[in-house]
Amino acid sequence: MLQSVFEQEKKYYKPVILNPNTLAEIAMAPETWQEILLFHHELVNDDYTGYLDAYYRECVRRFGRHWRYMDIVNVLYAAVKTLKPRNYLEIGVRRGRTVCTAARACPDMEIVAFDMWIQDYAGMENPGPDFVRHELTKHRFQGEVTFIDGDSSVTVPEFFKNHPEKTYDIITVDGDHSEEGALRDLDNVIPYLSEGGILIFDDIAHPGHPYLNRVWVDLLLRYPFLSGFEFREIGYGVGFAIRNSI
Ligand SMILES: C[S@@+](CC[C@H](N)C(=O)[O-])C[C@H]1O[C@@H](n2cnc3c(N)ncnc32)[C@H](O)[C@@H]1O
Repeated sequence: MLQSVFEQEKKYYKPVILNPNTLAEIAMAPETWQEILLFHHELVNDDYTGYLDAYYRECVRRFGRHWRYMDIVNVLYAAVKTLKPRNYLEIGVRRGRTVCTAARACPDMEIVAFDMWIQDYAGMENPGPDFVRHELTKHRFQGEVTFIDGDSSVTVPEFFKNHPEKTYDIITVDGDHSEEGALRDLDNVIPYLSEGGILIFDDIAHPGHPYLNRVWVDLLLRYPFLSGFEFREIGYGVGFAIRNSI
């Protein structure tokens, strides 16, 4: 009987077997889009998600199995589907598009979600945790969710001061879009990303936030145990990284 790679006595490679190119392929695979498009119309609760729903459907119709595109939605869905995480941490929830996408991929994990619910964010209503809790129920989430309201520059360090033992399998940073704020959020969560865990950072090609690409690229240089991937060809861009063993 052949032993699995994890039972081999001598380990030649490091233990994390998922690499960024593989996750990118899963995110862009036609089967992944098929699964996302089964529920994506139920995420449409503002103009922006309505636009994206129409965009995805048009691209699938026009380009079929050749379509190669990434944003926070397919990267997050693929990451959660692939890892089957114990837990998920999100900074920047707004109306629940990403947290509900994660919940669709794994309906019973533990979620902790940080937002300060800035009113009229991007010109749209930002109703707060009760609204998102209701959205999660609509998307059949059955796990535990904790919302932590307030400025992430305060709430995230406070949270980890109170839970220093916690690590998260998947972390999305999509809150404060200022250069300092995004950098601070990333630095505040990276120590708590599990080995083999996935970090997702949105908007690295957003024309309104041109510095976010530099924030991401510099970050990968500062944390060599993160193995990164970027998509900036079209749309607002997204970066993700897998935490390897140190
Ligand atoms: C880009 S939206 C999040 C979008 C969501 N991830 C999605 O894809 O639908 C950013 C959110 O971060 C929140 N935010 C901005 N700055 C913040 C800060 N310093 N602390 C906590 N939340 C913040 C805003 O209230 C807003 O809801």
